Amino acid sequence: MDIGIDKIGFYTPHIHVDMKKLAEARKIDPAKYTIGIGQDKMAIAPLTQDAVTMAANAALKILDEEDRNAVDMVLLGTESGVDHSKSGAVWVHHLTDIQSQARAFELKQACYGATAGIQMAMGHITMNPDRKVLVVGSDIAKYGLNTGGEPTQGAGAVALLISANPRILAIDPTSAMYTSDIMDFWRPLYSDKAKVDGKFSNQAYIEFFLRVWKDYQEKTNRSLDDFEALCFHLPYTKMGRKALGAVLESATAENKERLERHYEESIVYNRIVGNVYTGALYLNLLSLLEQGEELPAGSRIGLFSYGSGAVGEFFSGTLQPNYKKQLLTTEHGKMLNDRRELSIEEYEASFEDALPIDGSTRELDGQTDPGPVYLAGIADDIRQYMKK
Ligand code: COA
Repeated sequence: MDIGIDKIGFYTPHIHVDMKKLAEARKIDPAKYTIGIGQDKMAIAPLTQDAVTMAANAALKILDEEDRNAVDMVLLGTESGVDHSKSGAVWVHHLTDIQSQARAFELKQACYGATAGIQMAMGHITMNPDRKVLVVGSDIAKYGLNTGGEPTQGAGAVALLISANPRILAIDPTSAMYTSDIMDFWRPLYSDKAKVDGKFSNQAYIEFFLRVWKDYQEKTNRSLDDFEALCFHLPYTKMGRKALGAVLESATAENKERLERHYEESIVYNRIVGNVYTGALYLNLLSLLEQGEELPAGSRIGLFSYGSGAVGEFFSGTLQPNYKKQLLTTEHGKMLNDRRELSIEEYEASFEDALPIDGSTRELDGQTDPGPVYLAGIADDIRQYMKK
């Protein structure tokens, strides 16, 4: 029985910053951001969007009545959780009207959380082939004004419906994993901004990728010849390019041409959204599927997931016939095109704005946010989620 991705929904907030203008404001050559880092635009989350609302907004794009009745597990991968105890998945379950006889919980391991959810979903569907699992990766990447990480911020969520007989990507059962306790990126409990040892995190990413890629090849006897395209966790688009470059050094001209061509198709969305942490690998996959040519059914796609701290995993899947019919290409394109650009002054002025942490009440104006699900404020330390 094939199990894998049946539907993919993507949500990013309605405002963004232009990277050239950010570079100018920081007195940096814009080419460093657009070429050196590989980013053109950076999504900004207004206070009315958090990891829960973005996850619900991504999921609402794909769920129909049949799905709502068949989903019995809701898994939220995030490193932008809004409560130390209650999982965001319970709110997502409620906001998307999924039937009650379900499990809902959150998974955390930096940017790896959604991949953990997919692997858990695979096991669940193996045992319950008539059920479906909703896996969402949803995050706000925030490093701070004038920091080295600033050009690699972003916000968004990718929702994946996992089922038997999937119509987009059947996931292969074999994958290769690697865990090692390192401090390349983390976020202390008191802070909404990440700490990062940027250069070390880049080295660790490549090292983990090469390890799991080698292990995967040994386990499966597959090589680059077997892959139509490789997808990567993308904190910024140059990162995946470096990882791909590391395996292309000894590749044939044919493999190099094919994998590099598909890499360009796969980074279209990430370039104009920025880092979405847990959703970044799946945004990379979505961009390949929606922005690239239609690939033959059975084409194998490789996926490298990396969560700082750190866990790496390489796994793969095969494309299903007519998968393009399952995609929301037009809707996603409209959402991206309809975004409003913030001036650097607007971006800076709102950067430190946050919900109160002393139990006081704050109301937010949901009319300024086109998202169907939004945060209307906080009262008695309880977030007020609303659906239009
Ligand atoms: N034109 C073109 N490229 C330029 C340039 C210019 N004018 N100026 C610099 N560059 C290139 C550099 O050569 C470098 O390329 P390379 O990585 O291929 O060597 C790239 O731009 C970045 O420059 P660098 O000086 O290394 O940038 P930095 O010290 O500001 O740090 C990050 C960049 C990515 C490390 C930093 O943004 C960061 O810490 N981000 C968050 C961490 C992260 O996302 N880690 C990923 C692991 S999950």
